[in-house]
Amino acid sequence: MDGKEVLWSKIVSDVSTCTRCVLHRYRTKPVPGEGPIDSRLLFIGEAPGQKEDEEGRPFVGPAGKLFVELLEVRGIRRSEVFITNVVRCRPPNNREPNDDEVLACSNYTLSIIKLVSPRILVTLGNHAGKFIFGLAGIKWVGVSRMRGRWFKVDLLGLKDVYLFPTYHPATALYNPNIKSVLDSDFNAIKELYISLTKNLIGRKASTLLDFIVGDRHQHEI
Ligand code: URA
Repeated sequence: MDGKEVLWSKIVSDVSTCTRCVLHRYRTKPVPGEGPIDSRLLFIGEAPGQKEDEEGRPFVGPAGKLFVELLEVRGIRRSEVFITNVVRCRPPNNREPNDDEVLACSNYTLSIIKLVSPRILVTLGNHAGKFIFGLAGIKWVGVSRMRGRWFKVDLLGLKDVYLFPTYHPATALYNPNIKSVLDSDFNAIKELYISLTKNLIGRKASTLLDFIVGDRHQHEI
């Protein structure tokens, strides 16, 4: 195991015995996250649902099915992206996690971001958006107003991370109008991801987006 794999095993093991918030009382299996620890694309969702709690894996229920479809119709395999949530144990009756629970789980969220060190970080829904944009020092004004825009930031010591907020895929399950918005947002994600993966010479390498917009953007681009 290399250093990164050792760190990931430690996170998985710490999550499995975690009692930092009340949600541990309700979990069947904790859901630390999954994917390649050197992926350039990191997705952060909200919380495990019933199926995730049974399997110990993120996004394997109905919202997960839609999420994987949004990726795979664009030629991005689930297995090439890293997926986690802002809380890692299922809230009772699928209620939303509260701020204290997101905060209690944040040591894992931060460790995962630093470990994966992604070029693109996509937040799915309000809970992930609020937490991650707060970390980046950007005021969160709700997913419907924030979504679909790129924010180039320095985050937790990582330079030039492209943050992209969008809706949680579950939203499209009860509001079909959201599906076309997600389609458009995932098109944007794919475009930058492809441009970054073609350009494998490192974090400082210029991307198509850098070329178009120049270097002046610390925040919204
Ligand atoms: N919704 C989430 O936010 N995360 C999951 O893992 C599953 C559903």
